[in-house]
Amino acid sequence: MEKTFIMVKPDGVQRNLVGDIVSRFEKKGFKLAGAKLMQIPNALAEEHYGEHKEKPFFGELVEFITSGPVFAMVWEGENVIATARQMMGQTKPSEAMPGTIRGDFGLTVGKNVVHGSDSPDSAEREINLFFNQDELVSYEKND
Ligand code: CMP
Repeated sequence: MEKTFIMVKPDGVQRNLVGDIVSRFEKKGFKLAGAKLMQIPNALAEEHYGEHKEKPFFGELVEFITSGPVFAMVWEGENVIATARQMMGQTKPSEAMPGTIRGDFGLTVGKNVVHGSDSPDSAEREINLFFNQDELVSYEKND
């Protein structure tokens, strides 16, 4: 079954949005396969955002994502990668529809509350960056 990596960013943790965000994915029907509150080391942040290394905002991005704890999760389900992206809304909160996570809670493109993998390749890469295999739980879940 498809898996994706979702992370509540430091602004979302500070603003007590972890519960709401977890609840949205639970209520949608996805299955939680792993979760942890963590402080991202600099090297992990730079690797995670490696594709943005040449962008002018790279330093700001790494500084922000390491500025406080994040809540990292792995969610599982049919089409979870694309569906989670829809549930999060556009990267720029000003373009995100009401009803999406960023549309409801985000204000700036940097502090946009949540991150989610954008493709099967990035989902696999990001899950492996943030989680060891023994931190992921496999179990039956009834609908
Ligand atoms: P995310 O989905 O975590 O992946 C890359 C992040 O870069 C994105 O969310 C934004 O938060 C961030 N980002 C994109 N554009 C800018 C920008 N102009 N300034 C700061 N951060 C940005």
